[in-house]
Amino acid sequence: MHHVRIAPSILAADFGRLAEEVSAVERASADLIHIDVMDGHFVPNLTLGPVVIEAVRKVTKLPLDVHLMIEEPDRWIDAYAQAGADILHVHPEVCPHLHRVIQQIRHAGKQAAVVLNPATPLQVLDHVLQDLSMVLVMSVNPGFGGQSFIPSALPKITALRQLIEARGLADVVSISVDGGIKLDNAAEVIAAGADTLVSGSGIFATRDYAQTIAELRTRGTDALHRRSTQR
Ligand code: DX5
Ligand code: ZN
Repeated sequence: MHHVRIAPSILAADFGRLAEEVSAVERASADLIHIDVMDGHFVPNLTLGPVVIEAVRKVTKLPLDVHLMIEEPDRWIDAYAQAGADILHVHPEVCPHLHRVIQQIRHAGKQAAVVLNPATPLQVLDHVLQDLSMVLVMSVNPGFGGQSFIPSALPKITALRQLIEARGLADVVSISVDGGIKLDNAAEVIAAGADTLVSGSGIFATRDYAQTIAELRTRGTDALHRRSTQR
């Protein structure tokens, strides 16, 4: 991954004006739209389902980065794929058959991603890494927007970057980070090894989305260049 991507999380958008908010971040040069699906079981919060994904699909051309924080995701993959998701993220903490779910996502013609909670080790990726387009490192415990970044995510991102490079998958698997990402920590997250930044309140709580996204990208890109010249 040779450039930094910015994925606004619509969890922090004004849901009463969702179509406008999605269009606004698209105009503001977002790369992906991050959509948080929560079931009230795996995480203590409830958000939205396939009908909302379908509605968002109609108002943007950007790829939909759908983060499934739900139990038994295998029962729902096809519905989210049909609704218009492009990348489907599943949590290994609720997937006893992680390999099968990843294959199910790929057979649906979508990109598969695995999301790791703060306490989940990288080892869970060992036998599936080559089948993924993205690994999402949670830098908060999932369930809510607006939480503080957990610093132990940084060495984890670095270890994951090393694993991806060692496996020769740097052009295939990207590293995204989700939770508490703001202007003031964007550079260190990219310096640690990430290439994609998910940000909810860090973008939607600011007045000028275009300016915030541009600044996140500039800080991230500078860090990416420093990282590649250091090697
Ligand atoms: C948390 C969600 C995040 C959330 C991030 O469970 O997965 O995507 O929207 O929100 P911020 O950027 O406000 O921490
Ligand atoms: Zn998320």
